[in-house]
Amino acid sequence: MQIGVQLLPSPLNSHLVSNRVVVVIDVLRATSVMVHALSQGAQEIIPVKTVDEAFQMAKTFPEKTALLGGERESRRIAGFDLGNSPQEYMAWKVRGKRLILTTTNGTKAFYSVSSAKEVLVGSFFNISAVAERCLELNRDLLIYPSGDEGDFSLEDTVCGGMLVDRILKKSNMAIDLTDACHSARILYQGFEDHLVEALHLSRHGKELIDRGYGDDLPYCAQIDIAEIVPAFREGVIKII
Ligand code: MLT
Repeated sequence: MQIGVQLLPSPLNSHLVSNRVVVVIDVLRATSVMVHALSQGAQEIIPVKTVDEAFQMAKTFPEKTALLGGERESRRIAGFDLGNSPQEYMAWKVRGKRLILTTTNGTKAFYSVSSAKEVLVGSFFNISAVAERCLELNRDLLIYPSGDEGDFSLEDTVCGGMLVDRILKKSNMAIDLTDACHSARILYQGFEDHLVEALHLSRHGKELIDRGYGDDLPYCAQIDIAEIVPAFREGVIKII
């Protein structure tokens, strides 16, 4: 098995991912929201790229069965039911519902890697469950931090490094790591005992604090609060 980490969310050649498992990570906050919502009983999530697409998609489902969620500039979008804080996605609100989600980076990242063999949703919330699933699938793996508007993202890369670390600790097979993968693991090891600090140091973490969403940083830094592994198949994210 080989593991790579994509340090920048650059467009990928589809042949580079077509035989791989890809784990998409957007700690602040898209994949944290997805894992949280599904663990609280949401039926499925449809990630879409634009706000217009979200409104159009909502019209195709029976009334009151779908909720619109997501952000632009971190804030809830006018006319949407929910923003992009995981804590908004509690069972009383989302159980049994279909969520249509659009965010700045995270939802788009899924379409960049959709030709992969399997696309999994990763976050600190479900890191051990994802590590186990990657080992069960036993294929070459690409960890895809969804980044910060095209730039490197500290918190996503630390989470990717933690996933690498978990996989190595759980496995006794030979695993080949790319240089980027070694780097992500070393970065994670630097924050291992104080993960939330990485979120506070990151550009987007600071932006969320400035915009009044500071509570989301310690919330999204929680490890293994969900034992689920969602996957993106044919445009829909569900627990598999
Ligand atoms: C994104 O997808 O870019 C993020 O989730 C943004 C955010 O939550 O502020």
